[in-house]
Amino acid sequence: MNKKLSLYDVQIVINNNSFSHLADYIDAACPSSIFVIVDSNTKTKCLPILLESVSELKNSCVIEICPGETSKSLQEVKNICEILLVNGLDRSSLIINLGGGVVCDLGGFVASIIKRGVNFINIPTTLMSQIDASIGGKVGVNFLNQKNQLGLFSNPQLIFISSVFLKTLSNKEISTSYSEIVKYALIFDKIFWHKLQKLLLNNKINLSPIIKKCINIKKTIVAQDFHDVNERRKLNFGHSIAHAIESCFIDNKLIISHGLAVFVGLICESYISYEKNNLSKVSLMEIVNFIFKLMSPIFLEKKYDEKILYYIKSDKKNKNGISRFTLLNSIGESVVNCHVSDVEVLNSFKFYRKNAKLYFTKNQ
Ligand code: GLY
Repeated sequence: MNKKLSLYDVQIVINNNSFSHLADYIDAACPSSIFVIVDSNTKTKCLPILLESVSELKNSCVIEICPGETSKSLQEVKNICEILLVNGLDRSSLIINLGGGVVCDLGGFVASIIKRGVNFINIPTTLMSQIDASIGGKVGVNFLNQKNQLGLFSNPQLIFISSVFLKTLSNKEISTSYSEIVKYALIFDKIFWHKLQKLLLNNKINLSPIIKKCINIKKTIVAQDFHDVNERRKLNFGHSIAHAIESCFIDNKLIISHGLAVFVGLICESYISYEKNNLSKVSLMEIVNFIFKLMSPIFLEKKYDEKILYYIKSDKKNKNGISRFTLLNSIGESVVNCHVSDVEVLNSFKFYRKNAKLYFTKNQ
């Protein structure tokens, strides 16, 4: 029988400067060969830091993919598997995923299926992946233009998080990731929400305690429901709409970062929480105003509404074609599996557009 998966089996090491834990892990594991999956950004900016800090990796084979969501495809899985097999991967090999969510999701998927699974380590290099994608054992790829349609639950042996890599990111890359931080506060922790009002608007922000806090919230939630049938769905707040927007953008050959899509999703799903649940108007506007301090809104063109609705209906969490969202009852308290109708979603888009327009009028 398969051992029940849980986050307790995984070492999460948060270490700002020292790579010794990683080196020790590799020494102890003594893999037959090591493969490092990077994208072209992390190859230039992060790989040299890693190779300089961990001498055990000097003979590793580096596999490079293109950055961005389009690499999360079956074609890329095939390409990587070919390179791994041609270069002699066996069941005692080790795969290291050095990158953001795309590299961790794709590399974790490859590691979990090749030869029925080899050990892997996630070294998330973006803020978004350090607080979310690298943790929790979700690996997979997009399929038929839809996010994460093929995948499985599979834990890395080690998740190694270092703030050194965050220095390689632009301010924009950092600030769009604030959407995930805001989400953690909204679904779980009102006190954290109030602290964020000051912390995230500070120019000299110290991200380390915020990262630790987000990881702790994620660990607490995932510990209760690793396989995402109930409690873990709280983490999906803002994402039913965000993922559908991303799928619609992919479909139309447009680009939107996950972080920005999540900001839009948070506003729309907060509005639905106000319409359907107990979220007060005051809290709704507190959320909207704070988000618009963190991002300038993107245009959500009306012509895409039907397409976005179509993608919402293909969400993995739906049952019998009925959309099931995570909504807020109040700031810091979320509830899973809420049925949401098309009309309610369309009304939330109207609300988003109205507030985005107000923002632009005020900031002209
Ligand atoms: N990113 C949501 C989850 O890990 O469940």
